[in-house]
Amino acid sequence: MNILLIHGPNLQLLGKRQPEIYGRQTLADINSHLREIASQRDVELKVLQSNHEGEIVTAIGDNIDWAHGILINPAAYTHTSVAIRDALSAVNLPVIEIHLSNIYAREPFRHHSYVSPVAVGIIGGFGAYSYDLALDAMVHILREKT
Ligand code: DQA
Repeated sequence: MNILLIHGPNLQLLGKRQPEIYGRQTLADINSHLREIASQRDVELKVLQSNHEGEIVTAIGDNIDWAHGILINPAAYTHTSVAIRDALSAVNLPVIEIHLSNIYAREPFRHHSYVSPVAVGIIGGFGAYSYDLALDAMVHILREKT
């Protein structure tokens, strides 16, 4: 089972970036914890972080034949990117949208997501634990399918 995990812009700053909102764990902490869970679940996890919309679009398309599912925290692109949404629709794989914070409890401009309509589900508001929940949810979805 191959799962692609994409972190969007500014998430490389986790740990230092507004810790009262995003927590104190770094991206490296989160990724290494997820890699551990993935190996326990017999999952191949490919992880990338990018601050560039086009790079994320390309990575989604490039993994069309590798990934069985996509976990994505599109970060600010959640609220702006038709291109990322189209790429996710194009590959036609199960997608789970992740957020550290509860975007609906924040500023109104964060209440709209271009990605949610093409996701199987959305997990947000649990800090780094949102990623753990999303990984388990994806494993569950993919096991049900096979
Ligand atoms: C975020 C929420 C977005 O609104 C914001 O732009 C981010 C992070 C989250 O994980 O809570 O960069 O996706």
